[in-house]
Amino acid sequence: MLLLQNYSKMKKLIISLILVSSCALYSYGQSEGSNIEERIDDIISRLTLEEKVRMCHAQSKFSSPGVARLGIPELWMSDGPHGVRAEIEWDSWNYAEWTNDSCIAFPALTCMASTFNRELAYQYGVALGEEARYRKKDVLLGPGVNIYRTPLNGRNFEYMGEDPYLASEMVVPYIKGVQRNGVAACVKHYVLNNQETRRNNINVDLSERALREIYLPAFKAAVQKGGVWTVMGSYNKYRGQYCTHNDKLVNDILKGEWDFDGALISDWGSTHDTREAALNGLDIEMGTGSDGLTYSLKNAYDNYFLAIPFLEMIKKGDIDESVVDEKVRRILRLMFRTTMSKNRPYGSKGSIEHSAVARKVAREGIVLLKNEDEFFPLDPEAEITIAVIGENATRKLTTGGGSSDLKALYEISPLQGIKERFKNAKILHTMGYESGPSVYGYVIPPQLDADSLKKVAISTAMESDLVLFIGGLNKSHKQDCENGDREGLGLPFGQDELIKEIVSVNPGTAIILLSGNAVAMPWMNDVRSIVQAWYPGSESGHAIADIISGDVNPSGKLPISFPVRLEDNGAHSFGRKSYPGVNDEQYYEEGILVGYRWHDTKEIEPLFPFGHGLSYTTFSINSAETEKKTYTADDHIKLMVEIENTGEREGSEVIQVYIRDERSSLPRPYKELKAFEKVKLAPGQTKKVELNIPVSELAFYDPARNGWYAEEGTYQIFVSFSAGDIRKALKITVN
Ligand code: BGC
Repeated sequence: MLLLQNYSKMKKLIISLILVSSCALYSYGQSEGSNIEERIDDIISRLTLEEKVRMCHAQSKFSSPGVARLGIPELWMSDGPHGVRAEIEWDSWNYAEWTNDSCIAFPALTCMASTFNRELAYQYGVALGEEARYRKKDVLLGPGVNIYRTPLNGRNFEYMGEDPYLASEMVVPYIKGVQRNGVAACVKHYVLNNQETRRNNINVDLSERALREIYLPAFKAAVQKGGVWTVMGSYNKYRGQYCTHNDKLVNDILKGEWDFDGALISDWGSTHDTREAALNGLDIEMGTGSDGLTYSLKNAYDNYFLAIPFLEMIKKGDIDESVVDEKVRRILRLMFRTTMSKNRPYGSKGSIEHSAVARKVAREGIVLLKNEDEFFPLDPEAEITIAVIGENATRKLTTGGGSSDLKALYEISPLQGIKERFKNAKILHTMGYESGPSVYGYVIPPQLDADSLKKVAISTAMESDLVLFIGGLNKSHKQDCENGDREGLGLPFGQDELIKEIVSVNPGTAIILLSGNAVAMPWMNDVRSIVQAWYPGSESGHAIADIISGDVNPSGKLPISFPVRLEDNGAHSFGRKSYPGVNDEQYYEEGILVGYRWHDTKEIEPLFPFGHGLSYTTFSINSAETEKKTYTADDHIKLMVEIENTGEREGSEVIQVYIRDERSSLPRPYKELKAFEKVKLAPGQTKKVELNIPVSELAFYDPARNGWYAEEGTYQIFVSFSAGDIRKALKITVN
């Protein structure tokens, strides 16, 4: 008996030793400088065909299998992109209700883009990557860089605005920050997922120039400059073929021209065909329901397009085994970079440092749109009565929105932040309007009586010295949320009328908007001040109080244009074929003229231009000069700008450099952003700033020659504080 017991103990020990050593072989056994590609070859040679196919599709909602026999671990993924999402059940969309899966909610990506601060984007990525690592995630499903084409897109808050250069500059440090932790970023949604309406069906077509000049650059930067380890394919089609397995987008561009060496992951339920997925570069299929839909509860993973149907096609010789080998190679490369990397730090979660990053990004991203007679900053010591009116003063806004929904460790509401900072003030708070509960995919009507809410709001406004109206959108269905676009540019839930009535009884009213999108402002001239606060995350209230108290001087700049009317936006100027599509067919009629490119070129005055954002101090550009006047194709334009803080407070300003091609063989936008630099200055201080623009960046995409060309001729350089505020103009010549 004893002998038997010892024997079984021995057996267990031997088995665990074998397991540990085989794990060690692949997990920790890399000696410095060992060649990962050779190791991958070796692993592939040991895998059975079944094991290889299994690695190419999900085994649960958010994981894909490894090969236990060889110590190859599973891959675990999580949304993304503003914090690490709470744990989700193995085989349903329900939350698993863990008690240790809360996170710091970082500001939404529109807010991050508004900082125009690359270093902050890096810090954001590092902190988020640390949280993901601590939670044992290998792939973080973000960031998103779909271009802001229409203010109706329900997911704009998850993206970085309308300008390909800005998005490219901000996405790179974010990715580097995340991946420093041995966690892969997953840049999404590749590509042309620029609306939520009919996203699973819409067939997008557009000019080659618009694709190349507007919609692809941020993805290209993510791959080539950010070195991103994974990319997520989008739901929609491009020229009749689903983007997730689109021959041109994936084979030719992503993996061909750009040389992407990581793994292409499907969006959850964006795979539709085995042969296409196999041959057109999809590496990991996720989220396909057993009935082909992403919502089915029982997922028969074996029936995924890249599961048994794929295996059978290989066995029959319809698809060559080298196809699966290539996918497994990329998956293993991803594993060596993440879960099989020996150099991963441990990560951390919910730390003071992460809160500090969230607050820094939020307060640098908040944009002061209007500030009549220096309404802000308000004296934080003043003994006054402040009416705080509006649902977003207290509504949780780190939740909702779809897959970017977060279980925040905490969320400081605007009301709480204001109460904490304005200690001597009497704060009167009332909702003013109600939007109804937030349920994914449904509009639930408000429950409270709108008239009574309004009456209380008006009397509160009358009793107060000033009013802070805190409203906007709220990440419920059709109000900045996945799977449904907004239905109009106006503020919902009667806010416009309410604001007008409040202003009529108390002209000392400022508007603080929490939203990821531009809204119409029929009350624009009647209110004293307007703040665009986006969705600022866990530190929302603190960051808002920082700005309105003047503890922090605002320096956020709009990454989007605010149109006066929806029809002033390019995508909405051509009828339904352009947006939202007719019978699921869509053509981007405005072509390359997206955002300010449209407003400028068509001379349509925006409500607020791209790049706009006020400060409590003032700045001037004292001089701007280039090193020389004439350049050749391989040169860099070196631009020296002297900027001065001409006001009385320390503050930061963003020098924005736009270039105009004076005469071009193909039509071009009036001007395009090609460089920016955020500069912090003490009162009275001047600084000389050098900005570099490679001449190659002046190029446009010529579809006739399939390439980028910077033509000879004269270019104007506009040194600006926004797309609508040019301070200095100079000329150079390219020979
Ligand atoms: C979204 C993705 C997300 C995925 C997983 C999809 O519906 O489009 O952005 O990462 O779900 O939650």
